[in-house]
Amino acid sequence: MSKTFELKNNQDDKAVELPVIEGSRGTPAVDVRGLAGKQGVFTYDPAFTATCSCDSDITFIDGEQGQLLYRGYSVQDLAEHSSYLEVCYLLLNGELPDKDQMETFRDAITHHTMLNQSLVKFFDGFHYDAHPMAILTGITGSLSAFYHDATDIRNPEHREIFTHRMIAKMPTIAAAAFKHSVGQPKIGPKNDLDYTSNLLRMMFAVPAEDYEVDPVAAKALDVLFILHADHEQNASTSTVRMAGSTGTNPYAAISTGIAALWGPAHGGANEAVLNMLAEIGDASQVPKYVEKAKDKEDGFRLMGFGHRVYKNFDPRATVIRGYCHQVLEHYGMQNNKLFELAMELERVALEDDYFVERKLYPNVDFYSGIIYQALGIPINMFTPMFAIARTVGWAAHWSEMMADPGMRIARPRQIYTGYDLRGYVDIDKR
Ligand code: CMC
Repeated sequence: MSKTFELKNNQDDKAVELPVIEGSRGTPAVDVRGLAGKQGVFTYDPAFTATCSCDSDITFIDGEQGQLLYRGYSVQDLAEHSSYLEVCYLLLNGELPDKDQMETFRDAITHHTMLNQSLVKFFDGFHYDAHPMAILTGITGSLSAFYHDATDIRNPEHREIFTHRMIAKMPTIAAAAFKHSVGQPKIGPKNDLDYTSNLLRMMFAVPAEDYEVDPVAAKALDVLFILHADHEQNASTSTVRMAGSTGTNPYAAISTGIAALWGPAHGGANEAVLNMLAEIGDASQVPKYVEKAKDKEDGFRLMGFGHRVYKNFDPRATVIRGYCHQVLEHYGMQNNKLFELAMELERVALEDDYFVERKLYPNVDFYSGIIYQALGIPINMFTPMFAIARTVGWAAHWSEMMADPGMRIARPRQIYTGYDLRGYVDIDKR
């Protein structure tokens, strides 16, 4: 028998039975769609703390157990055994590829890495000190001008080409944004390199010298990208879905995701963590900053701490912390001051009742910057790294939504708190 949920109206004492929707795992949801029409009330949930916006087969998070699954595979398992491109295939297609499928996919991604030369000229329009996330947002939005008529969002093949283009071009765009900021010539993609080696080369090679990609750096980035690839209905993915629900050009929809990711409450936290650690400066200052974070009068929060869904630990943070040791050791940076400071901050916070009671733990952004910095990636490029990795998640969710025949424009309601109808007053009578 299907479950229902009874909601009682204490004005007239009448109850209404609402259907309960259950997924394959996770908290069930009360289907409130009929409520407005039948009962004349909306539901109110401004930050969507209790609202499911869609059905999805892609990613599952169990916040209590600290579990993150991509199409049923744990992110730890994938980080240990898979590669970022294989994870992209999995997220987009639902299954891990066989060898032929993987080769075809790799080939498709590799052959979409270049940018149209007219688009390359756009970079010069940005001031040299523009934040790379601003450039990423603008350039990705501009892709819609290059592929507008060629993208029929109702055509599954066109949707697939879009996902390949997006995954392929994002590293090229991010690397070009970096080159623009340091005033160096842009380095184009090289098709015989793997995904992250190609990115490192486009960022760090210069025409005057040979560049050898460090495989440890490429592998570290690959692992970080796997861990960031998708996270179900997070703020940026929900933004992409919302924009996409209007039927807009998908490249334009992805640019809204990049914009949403940039904020410090979301992907911008990785940059904010490093700035915070630099500000704290020394282990002796940790207690002072932990007190600041607890003080509601003080706007300061521990960046890289806390999560809407994880109430135990963030499995991505655990993998990254372990990886920090390996990467720092490889670069002879075992005594890295920032890593030691981050671990001390984690230790002090996790012994503090404020953080324990609120179930606030380090999230994915807490340690990732330590690795990025060890690889020589500048702080303002941390969030672009996140954006490159999350592109597949955005594209997979957009594709899933577009393939759903029941898709409708996303359009929330509101509680209006302004004036009732009033008459216009002429300017000299106000
Ligand atoms: N430092 C101090 N207090 C915190 C923190 C923090 N980092 N995070 C949450 N709290 C407190 C908050 O003040 C509130 O306390 P109270 O119940 O007394 O009012 C309680 O914990 C619940 O916090 P919330 O803000 O209601 O939780 P939320 O689900 O709305 O926000 C969050 C989640 C991630 C935005 C928030 O924890 C935060 O701002 N963290 C710092 C930024 C950050 O690291 N963001 C990256 C998130 S993971 C990667 C990603 O999404 O991209």
